[in-house]
Amino acid sequence: MIKTVELFAGVGGFRLGLEQASSKFKTIWANQWEPSMKKQYAFDCYISHFGNDVNHICKDIAEVKGTIPDHDLLVGGFPCQDYSIMKKGSLGIEGPKGVLWWQINDIIKSKSPKYVLLENVDRLVWSPSKQNGRDFSIILRCLYENGYAVEWRIINAADYGQAQRRRRTFIFAYHKTTSYYRDFAEQVCINGLKQMHKCLTDYGVLAKAFPVASHSNQFVDNWIDELKYAEITDLSANQKVHLYNSGVMMNGRIYSVELYPIQTNPILLKDILENTRVSSKYYLKEKDMDKWIYEKGAKNELRKHPNGKTYIFKEGKVQFPDSLNKPSRTILTSESELGRATHVVTDFETGKLRVLTPVECERLNGFPDNWTNTGMPERMRYFCMGNALVVPLITRMAKVLDKTFNAED
Ligand SMILES: C[S@@+](CC[C@H](N)C(=O)[O-])C[C@H]1O[C@@H](n2cnc3c(N)ncnc32)[C@H](O)[C@@H]1O
Repeated sequence: MIKTVELFAGVGGFRLGLEQASSKFKTIWANQWEPSMKKQYAFDCYISHFGNDVNHICKDIAEVKGTIPDHDLLVGGFPCQDYSIMKKGSLGIEGPKGVLWWQINDIIKSKSPKYVLLENVDRLVWSPSKQNGRDFSIILRCLYENGYAVEWRIINAADYGQAQRRRRTFIFAYHKTTSYYRDFAEQVCINGLKQMHKCLTDYGVLAKAFPVASHSNQFVDNWIDELKYAEITDLSANQKVHLYNSGVMMNGRIYSVELYPIQTNPILLKDILENTRVSSKYYLKEKDMDKWIYEKGAKNELRKHPNGKTYIFKEGKVQFPDSLNKPSRTILTSESELGRATHVVTDFETGKLRVLTPVECERLNGFPDNWTNTGMPERMRYFCMGNALVVPLITRMAKVLDKTFNAED
């Protein structure tokens, strides 16, 4: 059994992906709470699939993190925020309140799970734009201080056979007590950076789950340990590094390189559209057509900042309607609202323009049809899918993790 804890569980994408890989993954504790919402739709969806258990908790993680039981694997998708930290007098370091990374860090520090698998948006690796790589380096430094090595990779789901061009950063960390860590540490001692490179291209968990075709010639060799930055606050103030779409951190040393995938044919948008007649409520309304055309079109116009200062706003046009012969773009929480990011497709049956249905959004994330049809308003079904992950990607990683997991550790 691989005792798993699921943070920021949403509608259960991680759990579903893990359970589809192996019955060894047992979620022994899960947490989901949508701030400032009276009705907790995502949590209700979660328990309607996985049961109303005392260990499925709908409260702010900050309030309940102290009750988390011992576990082997910690998983969760958390928001990309500003992780910068300051020295707070003699009270030690302090991250901004409400920044969820610091909650995860507290849990990792107190529970030391053998493995950690986290998901976040792709820009996490570069953010913030004024100090490239700082936030990700903070995360790596925290994991280093807590006794972990880390592999990361930005995956475009469509590269690995999925229906959506959703790019997400996956962070896989393993504790120094695991044999996986010990074997890797020993090899890095002997072969140095070459071994770190091989971990990313050949034998690491992410490399096995997402096979690599080739890599760039440029790479980053960088340190985030206490010799370079005595305190994490120094790192927060000064670290600046352009990281690539994959990397590894061992003993405070980072190696990062751009990887190119061995692509699997993606599923196309036309393959996931419902082939029965959809309700007319999904069709674009004649009265809104001008707004849709404006939103999707190119712009070069004078706009005003809130302080009254004017500026020229420019953006290119986006494809309208969306191509059915490609995987979809990324679905956002605002999917189906009148706006530039919402997908608009030509309906098979009627030839009219329409938005995607909630079931189509579930398909784009690899969830079973009607997963979120658990009593929430449609608007929330789109919202939950915009927040969720592409489930089959988790299954791919979990299959490798299942083989890597050593019950003796
Ligand atoms: C990116 S989503 C993760 C979605 C999930 N992986 C899924 O498959 O549905 C992050 C989730 O964290 C939840 N969340 C935000 N702040 C929270 C907090 N303070 N405590 C617990 N959960 C929180 C949100 O409601 C949201 O569902």
